[in-house]
Amino acid sequence: MNDLRKAAVDVLHRNDRETFTAPSPRQYPHLWLWDAGFAALGWAAIGDFERAYREIRAALRGQWRNGMLPHVVFYGWPSAYFPGADVWRSDLAPEAPKDLPTSGITQPPVLAFVVEILFRHDPDRQRAEVFARETFPALRAYHRWLHAARDPEGVGLSCIVHPWESGMDNSPLWDQPLSRVPTEGLPPYRRADHHWVPEEQRPRAIDYDRFLALILHLRAHRYGESGVRTSPFRVADVLFNALRHRSEEALYAMARALGEPTEEIEGWLERSRTAFQTRLWDPERSFFLDWDDLAGERIPIIAAGGFVALYAGLATPEQAREMVDRHLRNPEAFAPDGGTRYFVPTVSKGDPGWEPRRYWRGPVWINLNALIAHGLARYGFHGLAEDIRHHTLDLIARSGFHEYYDPRTGEGLGIGDFTWSAALLLGWELLKVG
Ligand code: GLC
Repeated sequence: MNDLRKAAVDVLHRNDRETFTAPSPRQYPHLWLWDAGFAALGWAAIGDFERAYREIRAALRGQWRNGMLPHVVFYGWPSAYFPGADVWRSDLAPEAPKDLPTSGITQPPVLAFVVEILFRHDPDRQRAEVFARETFPALRAYHRWLHAARDPEGVGLSCIVHPWESGMDNSPLWDQPLSRVPTEGLPPYRRADHHWVPEEQRPRAIDYDRFLALILHLRAHRYGESGVRTSPFRVADVLFNALRHRSEEALYAMARALGEPTEEIEGWLERSRTAFQTRLWDPERSFFLDWDDLAGERIPIIAAGGFVALYAGLATPEQAREMVDRHLRNPEAFAPDGGTRYFVPTVSKGDPGWEPRRYWRGPVWINLNALIAHGLARYGFHGLAEDIRHHTLDLIARSGFHEYYDPRTGEGLGIGDFTWSAALLLGWELLKVG
């Protein structure tokens, strides 16, 4: 094992809280949904499938009776984290677990495809099957919820009702839709995220006000249907729905292997394939764009999440080629040039909202790099996929396992010793499709 891999294993062990792996024990001391999926891949990559399964079980323990998987499960609460369980108040929702506080929103649906990866790679076939049979019903229930509660009209795309559900908290994608969120009468509050990370690398105060206002809106509706229906923020995000689709491909494969019915899942796959073409593909920009459900229009921002459609196989070969030529290989958009040195900035450099040091507004994130690289490989762009892998390794060798990186200099930003940066260095190959 080389030094980088050894260092990655150390990060996993340092962040291991036994029940779950903290994304960062200081900045994010609880369980986060998509982080748990990536952490599980890290544990599996070092052969510790038992530990990987424990991670998944810990995420599923937070599941609500309606199928929702919350984006934070507050193991280890109380902590200094804001907004904590006292703000979310999941106890107000009749569907929430009684004995374990959680948030009231979800996060990108990666868990099903992670479980299918674990199922495929575990050398102990009996253990793998027991685990798959145990978790399949919960994963299917989650996806039923993603359709029933977040796509009530059966369009084929699930809406998010909080930017945090996208995993990309302050992306320029949300600037316009968030501007409609009223913040009058917000109670005074104190953020905790500036304690460890400089303010200029975190979301702005105005964004945080809106994040909190949306939580209070959903909470006032006990996180039920009426809160979604009346939410001032409702977006069908490309990254979120691409990962949902990838997870449903995985659910389909698991259903086949376990002898479970497949029709329902086939219907989901069919509908999202159509919706990606009819609603999200923008022929003028040659890109998949987010859909602002309240404005009834696409959001004209070219963000790296668009490339994740390739990971889910949702682009035609021509669309993939156009996206690559016009955006990924374009030094004015995503490709390295004199200004930037590393793949893949979160947002096109040509976007006026691009900020290379501020969280999800421009830096490089390891999880997106991994998903984009494997999506490119799925379409045969092996050279580009390798370039992204090399850039990722360079960033980590240069700056360690940071939360995100400045694409111009490679400087590590955000919190250090970040779990998914370490886990995905180890588990990179596991994400391969097919
Ligand atoms: C931040 C990130 C989100 C991540 C969480 C824990 O909120 O935006 O994607 O899951 O931190 O790492």
